[in-house]
Amino acid sequence: MDKKTIKDIDVENKTVLVRVDFNVPLREVKKAKIAPAKVFEVADDTRIIKTLPTLEYLLDQEAKVVMISHLGRPKGRDPNLSLLAVADHLGALLKRPVKFVSDCIGKEIEEAVKAMKAGDIILLENTRFYPQEEKNDPDFAKKLASLADIFVNDAFATAHRSHASTVGVTKYLPSFAGLLMEKEVIELTEVMESPEHTFLGIIGGAKISTKMGVIENLLKKVDTLLLGGALANTVLKAKGFEVGKSLIEKEMIDFYVRYFSGNLN
Ligand code: 3PG
Repeated sequence: MDKKTIKDIDVENKTVLVRVDFNVPLREVKKAKIAPAKVFEVADDTRIIKTLPTLEYLLDQEAKVVMISHLGRPKGRDPNLSLLAVADHLGALLKRPVKFVSDCIGKEIEEAVKAMKAGDIILLENTRFYPQEEKNDPDFAKKLASLADIFVNDAFATAHRSHASTVGVTKYLPSFAGLLMEKEVIELTEVMESPEHTFLGIIGGAKISTKMGVIENLLKKVDTLLLGGALANTVLKAKGFEVGKSLIEKEMIDFYVRYFSGNLN
């Protein structure tokens, strides 16, 4: 049988590069009086908590865990989108120190990883500080991969992105699914292949444009589909409702105005 998840492999003393989805909301906690730097904390740790089974399993197995993630959509290096606050928060959840390094490739990182012992865990800085990440640049992927022996993808919420830290690295390292990825795939497959009826789907998020494929696919399966969040605001606005300052996706308004008037071609 193919070896597919972290439960199928021996990770003891191996350096494991784990792609997590720590794209979580941050809030500013205080303005530093002397330095202009802002200080942030995690505003919602749901996604962090979901990765704990994978991280705890790898640490219990005496792996050296190197985590990579994106946060937000920065245009280059942006201190407001640093993963530093996430490392602190994760350390409190795991009840062990999570070392943070302020880059994701380069000499400093190579040295920090080389110095790791079994059971150590570090978080690298936002992969999207490098434009090569979203371009799935092979050199950037190779540099990330060179840090580790094994790649584990536990970033289910980012699995639809073909980026260097999700897809690119798999060309250079033996790659496996984390426990969250496995759980999400099993549950989603079950619900899409043999759903119980009445089947109600709820979909939210910021951008309806990136969810169109999912919405169309879900409409073939569900009895009712509810739209929520900013995604619903866009549709409401196109239908002529006032949405005030709520987040909408302006580029999609015209599409839905034409859709509702039957003028879509
Ligand atoms: C998400 O929050 O949906 C994922 O982390 C992907 O983020 P992205 O839409 O900015 O690629």
